[in-house]
Amino acid sequence: MTSEGLTTSTVPIELRNVSISFGEKQVLSDISFQLSCGETLILLGVTGSGKSVLLKLIAGLLKPDSGEILIRGENIAPLPESQLNPFRKLMGVVFQEGALFDSLSVYENVAYPLRESGLTDEDQIEQAVRQVLSFVEMEEAIDKMPAQLSGGMRRRVSVARAIVNQPSIMLYDSPTAGLDPVTANTINILIAKLRDIQRVSSILVTQRVQDALYLSTYVYSPERHELVPANSDGRTRPSTRFMVLRDSQIYFLGTREDLMRLKDPYLVRFIS
Ligand SMILES: Nc1ncnc2c1ncn2[C@@H]1O[C@H](COP(=O)(O)OP(=O)(O)O)[C@@H](O)[C@H]1O
Ligand SMILES: [Mg+2]
Repeated sequence: MTSEGLTTSTVPIELRNVSISFGEKQVLSDISFQLSCGETLILLGVTGSGKSVLLKLIAGLLKPDSGEILIRGENIAPLPESQLNPFRKLMGVVFQEGALFDSLSVYENVAYPLRESGLTDEDQIEQAVRQVLSFVEMEEAIDKMPAQLSGGMRRRVSVARAIVNQPSIMLYDSPTAGLDPVTANTINILIAKLRDIQRVSSILVTQRVQDALYLSTYVYSPERHELVPANSDGRTRPSTRFMVLRDSQIYFLGTREDLMRLKDPYLVRFIS
């Protein structure tokens, strides 16, 4: 990705001493970590621990009280709204509440970010829309309205919309929440596909331990269009770490093996 004006740092996301509070409530204090290229960071923590706030800070939707938020090496924290667009284009965001526009067709929903970023050639727009809809296996729904789709299909269209600008970073906030296990799995497959085929770096908030463990031990098989255990088929392990927020700080950051080995009573709830 070589967007004009951006440095070529290979570190997609780095936070340095980031703090934010709302009124009296300190939500995040002195948070520092790096997301590596191609890595998936699975963000865990009880309700209210600041997971969504952390993603919104990275997406430039909230400003920290202090600290630096580096996207590809550039600190976005001091930038005014008018200068955030190039960074937003690097990031695809799937928020739980990030609903589709009800009055727009699937085609127009997915085309929306392209039009926002100034694309006007309708042939180019249609080609890009069809490509991402086919990636999420929703091309046949291109002319449907959101109300005609199931919850899982709508979520897949939101993923298509999030990736239409070909972001190298994805932020997912509880993308499988409210979906039945089978449908949730189609979303997990998409997340793994973006990670393993497109080499997208991502941060994933999830309440579902099974999703987290699944994504950290399975990889996408292009031949079989499904997830297969890592290390079978000669595939390597996906690059995945876990981060647990507690009392406004990073309580744990490490691999699944570290998480299992620690036998920490507080962490057990997230892995059992
Ligand atoms: N815009 C806001 N204004 C005031 N308080 C907020 C705002 N956004 C989040 N909070 C508070 O910050 C805390 C963390 O919220 P959040 O990040 O949504 O938690 P979660 O880990 O469940 O996603 C909560 O106490 C929430 O009420
Ligand atoms: Mg949340």
